[in-house]
Amino acid sequence: MLQTTLGSLELDNPVLSASGTFGSGWEGREFSDLGRVGALVSKTVTLLPRPGNPPPRIWETASGMLNSIGLENKGVDYFVANSLPKMKQLAASGRSSTARGPRVIINIGGESIDDFVTLAARFCDEGVDALEVNLSCPNVQEGKLLFSTDPRMTEQAMRAVKKVANVPVFAKLSPNVTDIVAIGKGAEQGGADGITAINTLIGMAVDWRKQKPILGRVIGGLSGPAIKPVALRMVYELARVVRVPILGVGGVQSADDVLEFVCAGASAVQVGTAMFTEPALMVRLLDEVRDKLAAAKTTIRELRGALHRSAPAPVGGSAR
Ligand code: SIN
Repeated sequence: MLQTTLGSLELDNPVLSASGTFGSGWEGREFSDLGRVGALVSKTVTLLPRPGNPPPRIWETASGMLNSIGLENKGVDYFVANSLPKMKQLAASGRSSTARGPRVIINIGGESIDDFVTLAARFCDEGVDALEVNLSCPNVQEGKLLFSTDPRMTEQAMRAVKKVANVPVFAKLSPNVTDIVAIGKGAEQGGADGITAINTLIGMAVDWRKQKPILGRVIGGLSGPAIKPVALRMVYELARVVRVPILGVGGVQSADDVLEFVCAGASAVQVGTAMFTEPALMVRLLDEVRDKLAAAKTTIRELRGALHRSAPAPVGGSAR
């Protein structure tokens, strides 16, 4: 009932962690049985350690949160030595005769295509299950966001990564574009096995008394329930056109949210910001999604893309 697939990657269920909100997953192990989730997606890993942006880096907003972390992480060598074994341990804890256990998906970030390629090759050697290429972080100077604002750069990055990868590769796209479908097509043409939509929306917060921006880097990425309608719309638009599976992400906090993304065309759904207030959320959602599917006598596979079989094209829209 809950099984789903992302290209050649088979998952026990469609509930995944969203990169950046859960570290490597290890931090969350005492709150719930993470061996039950569909996949664990790591915080972005870069080649070299990054100190991240100046504080403040997080700011709560109405129905959401701004972050300006700046891809802080200890670099690939540290991650492979310390965090990856823990992710694999969590994955093994969920494996049984009837369950695959969570898949290990590593999110990689680079300043150049060469960086992405080096990281992809390294993680494939380490036996991860899939890669998510972060083409869309809004909080760094070196051009990560640029990759996913240009269809050709997206295509080039994905093509280069695919040349060295022997596992499925997903392109994580930015909503900060005029036409996400053009970028999604670029990713698909570059050989992406799936598309993660969406990363955060660029925003800012202001302290009028101090007459200053609140975040240390002035702007940050907005996540949480406030962005769910945007994410749903983008998943819907992408699913009308691309053939590769879509990993929906943006403001998910209930089982209904998960099923709405599936209806819009997502094969799996990532849970992020809401886990800051409820670290056990993914596992609760899993149970609730299963109950709701049973009550509706349907499955994830049947429901996926249902909207495209029933909804009219948007007013003024085209099939592109
Ligand atoms: C960050 O580390 O700044 C957030 C990561 C992202 O938005 O891709």
